[in-house]
Amino acid sequence: MKVVTSLQEMFAERRMLTEPVGFVPTMGYLHEGHLSLVRRAKQECRSVVVSIFVNPTQFGPQEDLARYPRDLERDLRLLAPLEVDLVWTPTVDEMYPPGYQTWVTVEEVTRPLEGAMRPGHFRGVTTIVSKLFNAVQPQRAYFGQKDAQQAAVIRQMTRDLNYPIEIVVCPTVREADGLAMSSRNVYLSPTERQAATVLYRALRAAEQAYQAGERNAERLRAVMRQVLESEPLARVQYVSCADFDTLQELDEVRGKALLSMAVFIGNTRLIDNIVLEP
Ligand code: PAF
Repeated sequence: MKVVTSLQEMFAERRMLTEPVGFVPTMGYLHEGHLSLVRRAKQECRSVVVSIFVNPTQFGPQEDLARYPRDLERDLRLLAPLEVDLVWTPTVDEMYPPGYQTWVTVEEVTRPLEGAMRPGHFRGVTTIVSKLFNAVQPQRAYFGQKDAQQAAVIRQMTRDLNYPIEIVVCPTVREADGLAMSSRNVYLSPTERQAATVLYRALRAAEQAYQAGERNAERLRAVMRQVLESEPLARVQYVSCADFDTLQELDEVRGKALLSMAVFIGNTRLIDNIVLEP
C-alpha cells in the first residue's frame, strides 16, 4: 500500500495502476462503513485508491471542521489488510491554494434536505469530488447510501459533466442496535449514544407503516416525528418522505422513495435514511 500526499506523486502513481481503478473518497476516521466500500471496490476493480481529506469547503462556519475526528495512523492500519493499492492524503494548501476561485455547483437536487440546512455544503462536496476524480481518474467510485443526497448529487454531477465513471452506492452499515455508522458518532456521550438509536427506530416504524399499506407521505412523516419526539434528547431538524431521484417531498408514495431525517442528539447532528421500494 503506497501512501502519497502531493498531486504530483498522485499523478505519477496513477499511471502505474492497472484498470479498472476503483476509488473510495473519504474524510478519514474510517469505520466499517468505509471499509465495506473498500472491500466492494476490491471485489470489482483491479486497483483501489482511497483518499483521506477533511475537506474544509463542505463545512459551514458554525460546523465541526476544527474538531472533526482525525487519526491517519489508525486509518492506514485499517486499510493495510484490505490491500488498497494507493492512499492519497492531499493537503488543504494544494487543494485550495491562495487565489483559488473555481467551484462546481449542482442545482435542483442540492436544494432540499441537507442542502437547505447546510448552505454551501454540496458546493464544497461537488468541487472536491470533481477535483479528486480529475486526479484519480477512476472507472468506478464508491459512496455510502447513508449520505443519500450526496450520492444523488454526485450521480447528477457525474452525468452532467460527462465523467466516464460508474457511481456505485453501497448499503448503510449499522451497529447491532441499528445506529448508522458515522465518524461523528464519536461525539456522542454514552447516554446520547443510547438515545441515537431513535433515528433508526423512527425510520423502521415508517417503513413498517409503508409495508402495511400506508402510502400517504404526510402520515409516514408523522410516524417518524412521533417516534423521534418520544426521545427527550432528540431535536428534529427535518423528516422527509421524498422522491428517490429528485428528492422533492411527496404527497403520495407511488414509486421508489426516500425516508430521511436530520436529528440533533445533544450537540451532535446525525442523519439517516431508508429507501422504500415500490
Ligand atoms: O462522504 C464524505 O466523506 C465526503 O463528503 C466526501 C465524499 C469524501 C467529500 O469530501
